[in-house]
Amino acid sequence: MARLLETRRAAPVAAVLAAAVLAAGCGQEGIELAESDPGYEAAVLFNENCGMCHTLDVAASEGSSTDANDAERVDGPNFNQRREDVQAVLYAIRNGGFSGAIMPENILTGGDAQRVAEFLARYAGQDTPSGSGGG
Ligand code: HEC
Repeated sequence: MARLLETRRAAPVAAVLAAAVLAAGCGQEGIELAESDPGYEAAVLFNENCGMCHTLDVAASEGSSTDANDAERVDGPNFNQRREDVQAVLYAIRNGGFSGAIMPENILTGGDAQRVAEFLARYAGQDTPSGSGGG
């Protein structure tokens, strides 16, 4: 009597997805600009100084709450959805937002503040429908 012993081993596929776990404040990996991009430095500054409270995809920041029930008081506006201009950002940086209540004043100063303001003016509001009437 022949006995066929068929051993089949399912090779454990190491299909562990390289989960892009980009925890806030864990570096610059998620920044969507090339390091050669003129905005890259500002994106890093934003990520490090503003990203804990504000959301902006291009700077790999998700500080704003997306769920109203989960909103913390410090959550700032989501810059994917809100357009800003240079003067408004400089004002907010100097004065701690528009209300002065939550956002710290002068997190950035001088050239860094200017760079981030120009960067935000360019990249904020990208989720809003582009078209007429902007501004
Ligand atoms: C501690 C959390 C916190 C940090 C850090 C922070 N912000 Fe804010 N920011 C807020 C909050 C909250 C508001 C909304 C309330 C207000 O305007 O005072 C705000 C408002 C703003 C506004 C006004 C937006 C609008 O249209 O109403 C701008 C621009 C802004 N922040 C830019 C920045 C920049 C640039 C940085 C980094 C240099 C930064 N913020 C860092 C919390 C923060």
